[in-house]
Amino acid sequence: MSAATLERNALDAASHVPTVVNCYALFDKFFPACGLLDYTEGIYHGDSTLAYEQAQLDQIRYVLDEVRCTAGTRILDVGCGNGSLLDEVRRRGAAGVGITVSPEQVALCRRRGLDARLLDYKDIGCELTHQFDAVVANGPVEHFVQPSDAAKGDADRIYSHMFETFHRMIDPSSPVRRLINTTIYFIRNPRPDALLKSPWRYRWGSDNFHYAWLARSFGGFYPAMGQLERCAGSRFEMLKSVDGTVDYHLTSEEWLRRIHAALRTRTGLAIFLNSLPFVVRHPRQTLTMLFTMLVTESWNWQFRTDDPPTRLLRQTWRYCA
Ligand SMILES: C[S@@+](CC[C@H](N)C(=O)[O-])C[C@H]1O[C@@H](n2cnc3c(N)ncnc32)[C@H](O)[C@@H]1O
Repeated sequence: MSAATLERNALDAASHVPTVVNCYALFDKFFPACGLLDYTEGIYHGDSTLAYEQAQLDQIRYVLDEVRCTAGTRILDVGCGNGSLLDEVRRRGAAGVGITVSPEQVALCRRRGLDARLLDYKDIGCELTHQFDAVVANGPVEHFVQPSDAAKGDADRIYSHMFETFHRMIDPSSPVRRLINTTIYFIRNPRPDALLKSPWRYRWGSDNFHYAWLARSFGGFYPAMGQLERCAGSRFEMLKSVDGTVDYHLTSEEWLRRIHAALRTRTGLAIFLNSLPFVVRHPRQTLTMLFTMLVTESWNWQFRTDDPPTRLLRQTWRYCA
């Protein structure tokens, strides 16, 4: 299937989140060209001089160790991105299936020989029921609730359904039965309806200003602290929660450095030409995303200072029968 057909199918299947699908369509035009395949934080172990690639690999290893991934383990990677985690799953002799709403990511994963499927987790059918030892959600949860959902009071219902779906994916007879998510949480909670308004209504640099740019660029509304634990109900018990906010800060600063560096070289021209068809089709989202990343630096803002407005948590869960 061509990337264009895959994109049309993704938009049909996930018509309620075109911002998310488009955001990764644009990312996938320039992140890989800048040598960046991963869209989550690395783990720096408190050493900001650690090489970016090593930090990324260490994060993937941490995630897979937490779900006891060894030879033969069956892993469902929800929001698999460009497949780095699936690649490590394969290196361990385990079996990985990835799902994503991005046709570009499916195409890239398949070029790497990985089993990636264009599928919204909300639409996972019974063919995957009880097929896995563990579920990994390394960075997608932030996209599952939109500000409009939260404004309607729907967020808890969506997260409960998410846990129900992940629970259904796990084989009840598996000795592993683990879930891990890495998720950004709000520490300074915005009112959801504030993010539905134009960022220009807010003072430059204020929380609402940045949060509104983030929501309209990337599509999503983060959970509040404790919200996922509440919504897991009796399906999963949290075993461990580790703060990786500093890691995401270091990662995001490296992303920004590499993107600036690439834009100053010939790679910048190649990225521009490669992105042109997308830019022509989606001029508004292109401008919004570039403004959010390179001008307001809202992505980086959320992890900056000693008192950042968000927190990245890596959370390991045990399946409850
Ligand atoms: C922040 S990226 C993380 C990607 C990857 N796990 C990594 O570590 O690089 C979020 C991922 O979630 C996917 N995603 C977003 N909403 C989704 C949904 N409703 N169902 C499945 N995947 C989704 C995106 O396409 C993207 O692959």
